This record gives sequence, structure tokens and C-alpha cells, in this order.
Amino acid sequence: MALLVVDTEYMKEIDKARRDLRALIAYKNCAPIMLRLAWHDAGTYDVNTKTGGPNGSIRNEEEYSHGSNNGLKIALDFCEEVKAKHPKITYADLYQLAGVVAVEVTGGPTVDFVPGRKDSKISPKEGRLPDAKQGAPHLRDIFYRMGLSDKDIVALSGGHTLGRCHPERSGFEGPWTRDPLKFDNSYFVELLNGESEGLLQLPTDKALLEDPEFRRYVELYVKDEDAFFRDYAASHKKLSELGFSPSSSKLIANDCTVLAQGAVGVAVAAAVVILGYFYEVRKRMK
Ligand code: HEM
Repeated sequence: MALLVVDTEYMKEIDKARRDLRALIAYKNCAPIMLRLAWHDAGTYDVNTKTGGPNGSIRNEEEYSHGSNNGLKIALDFCEEVKAKHPKITYADLYQLAGVVAVEVTGGPTVDFVPGRKDSKISPKEGRLPDAKQGAPHLRDIFYRMGLSDKDIVALSGGHTLGRCHPERSGFEGPWTRDPLKFDNSYFVELLNGESEGLLQLPTDKALLEDPEFRRYVELYVKDEDAFFRDYAASHKKLSELGFSPSSSKLIANDCTVLAQGAVGVAVAAAVVILGYFYEVRKRMK
């Protein structure tokens, strides 16, 4: 893709898309699957080869057909409605914006969103996302490959405060919390409470209790929801910007405005000086 220019127009479209996403997510009650879409587009990143990541490649059939992405075509189609209204916005930005809005409208923390991600048509091979049947070493393998830390693993797992498992998509069934449309620290509260009627814990969720390094964050987030929101917002931002540095796309809006304003200023000043000169000359000739 050619250089993506994040100018005033692009920023305006992002603002409008954000509003449309808020309305769409409220109307369809689809915050959980939108967050899962954003995470699955970003979570393929490999810090060593600098491949995968939040680049919109999950829209390729080859990738959304991966077993771990079962069901996400629904979220891709929802996003397509917004893309149709705001074609300038890249898929990569749109999916990450959808994830940020999903957290926001369900009562979670505000996650800083910086636009400018480029789209890619290249999909990574299957197998980069975590396997829910495994334990702590596997979680570390997967998240360290993305360049993320133990704290990121636990904070981001708190995303399971939203949504549920669907047997036809993952083979697992049920929500993690009593109110799966509310973003709070209840995922950690339920995790520490142990198995509970009607709720689910994946092997990878339980691994957060079994590993002492992970567990200290779980215990912190149970006691202190503010700490969870602060860490979650920071980790989500990191996840949404894997392999992306905002400076790689040009932010020209302000520069252009400043340049234009500068040019007008110089022209006006020059005109005043020239007029003043002729006025003086005429005065002397009289
Ligand atoms: C730590 C490793 C993770 C594993 C093994 C994992 C696994 C799963 C599985 C098996 C499902 C059920 C899918 C379905 O049946 O519909 C699911 C759903 C979900 N995951 Fe994760 N996940 C992980 C991390 C994350 C992260 C980092 C986030 C976001 C920050 C996240 C957000 C979600 C959400 C919101 C749902 C609910 C989707 C819905 O209700 O449609 N997950 N996850």
C-alpha cells in the first residue's frame, strides 16, 4: 500500500467511524466479538520477523478460516458496514478502533487510539494465536513472540470479562462472568473464587492462578479494579500497535495548516509594507 496520509480529513473520518461503531455495537450488542476480532488481527504479530500484527489481514478468507478465528466472519461483516461509509479508513485501523470502542462502551477504560496502520494482504500461517487447552509455558511462548510481557498476558486475559464461548466456534461453552456485557474486574474475581455454576474457566485462564508470577497480578486486579483498568488500557494499546509506529505514516495535517497560515501571514505583511511604501512616496510627491 502507498504511504498512508493521516491528515485532517482522515482524522475526521476516524471520529465519524468511532460514532458509527458506538451505535452499531450498542444496537447489535456485539462488543465481545468486536474485541475478539481486534485481538485476533493483532495477536499474530511476530517481533522477530516483524510479520503479522494489526494489519487487517484477518479479512482475507485464508486467515479468517483458521480454526482459532471461527465465528469472526460475523464481526468482519459488521465492520464492513462502517467501512462502506468511511472507505478511506484502513481495515487495520477500523478493526483496532472497533476493539477500543467495544471496551469503552461496555464501561471499560479509555484506550488511547492512534490511527495510521497500513493494510496487508499477506496472512500468517495458522497457529500463531493461543491454544486454550494449554498452560502457562504456552501462554509465554505466544505472548513473548509478540514482544509482550507477563503483566500484559494477565491484564489482556481480563478481556474475558466480556463475552462467552460458543460450542460451535471453539468447542467450549459459557461466559466467564455473570454480566458478559459489562467490562469490569469480575473475570479475576470469578477466577480466584474457583469453579462456579454456569460460568467457565479455560485451561489458559486457570494457568493464571497456577503460575506464581501471573497469580500476583490476578490477586492485585481482584483487590484493585483501578489497577486493572490502568494496566489493561496500557496493554491493549501495546497490542493494538504491535509492529506499528505512528511516525511510519505521515501526520501532515497540522504541518500543512501551519505552512498555509504562515504563507498567508507573510503575504499580508508584505502587502502592508508595499502599501506603506507607496503611501509615503505619494505623500512626498504632493
Ligand atoms: C490468553 C489467551 C487466550 C485464549 C486461549 C483465548 C481463548 C478464547 C476462546 C476459546 C474463546 C471462545 C470463542 C468462542 O467460542 O466464541 C474466546 C473468546 C473471547 N476472547 Fe479470548 N482468548 C485469549 C485471550 C484473549 C485476549 C487477549 C482478549 C482481548 C483482550 C480476548 C477476548 C475475547 C473475547 C471478548 C471473547 C468473547 C467473544 C464472544 O463472546 O463472541 N481473549 N477466547
